[in-house]
Amino acid sequence: MSQFQQFLAALQAKYQPLATGQSASYIPELTKANPDWFAISVVTVDGQSYEVGDFEQTFTIQSISKVFVYGMVLEDHGREALLHKVGVEPTGDPFNSLIRLDEDSKRPDNPMINAGAIATTSLIKGADPTERLNRLMAMFRRYVGHEVFIDISTFMSERSTGHRNRAMAHLMLNFGMINGAIEEALDLYFQQCSLLVNCHDLALMAATLANRGVNPVTGEQAVNPEYIRDILSVMYTCGMYNFAGEWAYRVGIPAKSGVSGGILAVVPNQAGIAVFSPLLDKNGNSVRGLRVFEDLAQQYGFHLF
Ligand code: DON
Repeated sequence: MSQFQQFLAALQAKYQPLATGQSASYIPELTKANPDWFAISVVTVDGQSYEVGDFEQTFTIQSISKVFVYGMVLEDHGREALLHKVGVEPTGDPFNSLIRLDEDSKRPDNPMINAGAIATTSLIKGADPTERLNRLMAMFRRYVGHEVFIDISTFMSERSTGHRNRAMAHLMLNFGMINGAIEEALDLYFQQCSLLVNCHDLALMAATLANRGVNPVTGEQAVNPEYIRDILSVMYTCGMYNFAGEWAYRVGIPAKSGVSGGILAVVPNQAGIAVFSPLLDKNGNSVRGLRVFEDLAQQYGFHLF
């Protein structure tokens, strides 16, 4: 076993007993997650994998999808046009906050909070909902290098309970920040959040971002390299919600979390790292995930500064 693999195994042993936090419950399907699930995956830019724990366990990607859809919509519309609709400013508010939507600009602050993500998803090009969904799935396929699937139960669960998200979409419609087809945009947003991945997939997706948009295993260009800068900057400042500042200070690499318990981080030009464990803290970040990243960053000096 390599030294790095041994370090990952030691981290797993150290943090498996840490059973604090709670699985997300506002999406009923997510309460079915096993609180013991725990995986760490690292994929390097030359395509090597190091992983421990339940790295083949599938779960829904949730907010981590926002990073990749942002890249896709940058490709569809370009930087300037997208900036008119969605800003790049961290909020310090919870991910599902509505409070700043009513400020002067009427523009959601950034594409990592739910409002900004819904506005971003509404801009995906395509003649009809099927074409837009197919384009979205094809984009995710380039990052993971295999067929992708949507968890229908989670999609239905979010669709029937996502009243805050629906409220945000209506507010943005009122301000002209989103076009009229709100239910279509929300469906596509719920579908992207319900995409099934495992921890290995997430690490490979992060490794693709670390590798200028080229999937290090398949060699496929998943996103235009011109937009890597945009994606990583927004992840760095906004990816961990109201913990983003603390994360930047302590861990110091671009990252994104999701309420199903995944955290993905990019070490530019080196590797993608992902941790999956469903127990969350009050900000919606995986408790074990945060600890693993703090230890990894300290041990291997990943911090950018
Ligand atoms: O819209 C929602 O609330 C979920 N589909 C995604 C939220 C999420 O993952 C935020 N993460 N911390």
